[in-house]
Parts: sequence; structure tokens; C-alpha cells
Amino acid sequence: MKKLLTAIMAAGIVALTTSPAWSEDGDDIMSNNGGVSSLRGQVEISTVNKSEPLKRVPRDQNTIDRNYVQQPPMIPHTIRGYQVNLSANKCLSCHSFKNAGEMGATKISVTHFEDRDGTTLSDVSPRRYFCLQCHVTQADAKPLVENTFQPVDSLK
Ligand code: HEC
Ligand code: HEC
Repeated sequence: MKKLLTAIMAAGIVALTTSPAWSEDGDDIMSNNGGVSSLRGQVEISTVNKSEPLKRVPRDQNTIDRNYVQQPPMIPHTIRGYQVNLSANKCLSCHSFKNAGEMGATKISVTHFEDRDGTTLSDVSPRRYFCLQCHVTQADAKPLVENTFQPVDSLK
């Protein structure tokens, strides 16, 4: 077992240290994925892709229409530098029930206080603490895949 693990690790190290499997013009040099390309492009799983340039998020705009009633509303403002971690939640400094009025922001809804059993807690439920799991900023970006979704008539 130990030998097998060592062999696998050695193989991993070799794979990581060999030159990238992807050339600048996108040619597939040594891909062993059967020619299947993913949204990452045609690259080996062990190759670290060049990161995309950051998208420009509009600074401030009106709230964005929702396409279906249960949709987490999209974020209509930039969130650069807003931290959400164990000790602070920048989003709640404007969106909590306590601060929303003064900050002119939308209050989080009552669903954000419910735990998974439907019990309403006295503060934001842990499963709603990391806002960006569900709410995202918008940018004028090319869709990665085609989408023909249409909202129901009552929301059009
Ligand atoms: C400095 C205050 C402030 C902070 C911090 C802030 N927001 Fe906002 N946010 C606003 C205001 C003000 C609006 C309302 C804009 C409007 O109504 O035109 C808003 C709107 C929104 C909306 C749209 C609500 C709707 O009904 O469509 C979402 C979602 C949202 N913010 C999420 C977030 C998240 C997630 C964070 C943290 C990453 C965050 N906000 C941080 C002030 C803030
Ligand atoms: C698990 C997904 C999820 C997380 C995490 C989450 N939300 Fe939401 N949020 C939703 C959904 C879905 C809605 C719309 C339906 C509803 O109100 O529950 C919503 C609605 C909202 C609204 C609009 C409320 C209204 O009455 O129109 C605001 C503002 C908001 N969320 C802010 C936040 C902030 C701030 C956080 C982090 C503290 C957060 N949300 C975390 C899913 C989420």
C-alpha cells in the first residue's frame, strides 16, 4: 500500500514539474483527455490556467429585476474589498435589520434567519452568513454557455 502511494505521489510530482500541456495558441500538445475540452480550455488537469482579467463590475446601479420569485437578487453594486469572515460581515453592516434603514439598503429577508429545520433564529442563520454563495455581482461578460431561460409571464 505504502509503495503504491509513493508511486502515485512520484507520478504526481513528475506531472506537476513537466512543462505545460497547452501552448499559447491553444494547441493540444499532450492532452490525454480524449480530445474533450472543458470551459477551462483544452488543458491537462495538472496545468494551472492563466487567470482571466477581472471583470468590471458597475459601481452602483438600480436593483436588477428578478427572473423568478425564489431568485437571490443580484448585487447591483461593487463589492471590492468587502470582507465576510469569522469576525466581520461587511454586507450586514448595511443589509442587517439594524443597519438597513440608516444605510438605505434592502433588509435581508426573514428567510435569512431560518435554520434548515425552519426554526427562526434571533440572528442571521449560519447557512445564510456567506452572502456570496447565493448573491453575485454582475458584469457585461460573454455567457460561458448559451441560455434561453425566459421568466414567467407575471415577472416579465
Ligand atoms: C455601504 C453599504 C452596503 C454594503 C457594505 C453592501 N451593500 Fe448591498 N446594497 C446597498 C444598497 C444601498 C442597495 C440598494 C440599491 C438600490 O436600492 O438601488 C444594495 C443592494 C443590494 C442587493 C439587491 C437587493 C434587491 O432587492 O435587489 C443585494 C443582493 C446586495 N445589495 C447584496 C450585498 C452583499 C452580498 C454585500 C456584501 C458582499 C453587500 N450587498 C454590501 C448597500 C450596501
Ligand atoms: C443560501 C442562499 C443565500 C445566502 C447565503 C444569502 N441569501 Fe440573501 N437571498 C436569498 C434568496 C433565495 C433571496 C430571495 C428570497 C428570499 O427573500 O428568501 C434572498 C434575498 C435577499 C435580499 C432581498 C430581500 C428582500 O426582501 O427583497 C437581500 C437584501 C439579501 N438577500 C441579502 C443577503 C445578505 C446580505 C446575505 C449575507 C448575510 C445573504 N443575503 C445571504 C438567498 C441567500
